[in-house]
Amino acid sequence: MKIDGVSYRTIWPAADGAVEIIDQTCLPHVFATVRLETVDDAARAIADMWVRGAPLIGATAAYGMALAARADASEAALRKAYATLHATRPTAINLKWALDTMLAALLPLRESDRGGAAMSRAAEICDEDVAINSAIGDHGLTLIKEIWERRRAAGAERINILTHCNAGWLATVDWGTALAPIYKAFDAGLPVHVWVDETRPRNQGASLTARELNWHGVPHTVIADNAGGHLMQHGLVDLVIVGTDRTTRTGDVCNKIGTYLKALAARDNGVPFTVALPGPTIDWTVADGIREIPIEQRSAAEMTHIAGKTASGEIATVQLVPDGSPAGNYAFDVTPARLVTWLITERGLCPASAEGLASLYPERAGGK
Ligand code: MRU
Repeated sequence: MKIDGVSYRTIWPAADGAVEIIDQTCLPHVFATVRLETVDDAARAIADMWVRGAPLIGATAAYGMALAARADASEAALRKAYATLHATRPTAINLKWALDTMLAALLPLRESDRGGAAMSRAAEICDEDVAINSAIGDHGLTLIKEIWERRRAAGAERINILTHCNAGWLATVDWGTALAPIYKAFDAGLPVHVWVDETRPRNQGASLTARELNWHGVPHTVIADNAGGHLMQHGLVDLVIVGTDRTTRTGDVCNKIGTYLKALAARDNGVPFTVALPGPTIDWTVADGIREIPIEQRSAAEMTHIAGKTASGEIATVQLVPDGSPAGNYAFDVTPARLVTWLITERGLCPASAEGLASLYPERAGGK
């Protein structure tokens, strides 16, 4: 996507064999890039959320394996790099998918060939992510067009889409998942307006989704996380599109904390609740999302403190809660398949069910 006319991906190889990323902890106020030179750099970038979003976590892990292979391509070193990267964040399955993909590509090769092959495979994973997200955008656009035609016939002037967290291009290599259909709809001239949940505690909606939509010129309004139900009751939301960190083979959707409450409100108000789902985000080994998906718990400091820009333009962190009040920080929740209207994949739309996913991914349906 473009920032001030310059095309960017969120991760790219540098000329000297290092890898560069956008440091998302500096956004929305400062645009900064960081060089990753070792597997430990890549692990830190994921754990400390310089990069985040399931597909980008996977892409960074792939490059982390490539950085490891450049330093030492022995099987022992690659397995150690796998373990280091795998320990960074527990919920997004794209991390394990990318690590498994890299290991399967590298281990059969001679040690001397692994460094170069690892960089090429990581680059392919990034290109594949971009193609997947663009296809999700095309399928989602068809749905948005259908809903817009109905709304326009009823006299509406715009189509209101609500999203939670950041599942835009900053969460992927490019395009985004949930935001890809929105970008395609906007570029096609449809009058889209996006309700952006702020997404406490880290505010990926207010700081990242709003930043992206703002760069692209897409009309949007940042709302408190608790506002969605009210807007739906008043007919002000035509469609919800969210991303996912892990979706079970039965269609249960794990995504940023608060997604489940949006799905409940959507069901109560007859608003379609859709999930943009890249193939690598499906965990074919899991059937029950609530019982089986590990939910990351992050530092209480993300709840108790908040960073922002002061009136004089400095970035400052302030404390929100009284001294001594403990805080809990559950990063994700699971929306049961029964509350999801459609999964929007790179292969088309399907119901959130084992049968729906199996019809689009027959080669994986046996749990392979
Ligand atoms: O904690 P984060 O910022 O990594 O969480 C991101 C999300 O929950 C996204 O919705 C999800 O990864 C899908 S990204 C295309």
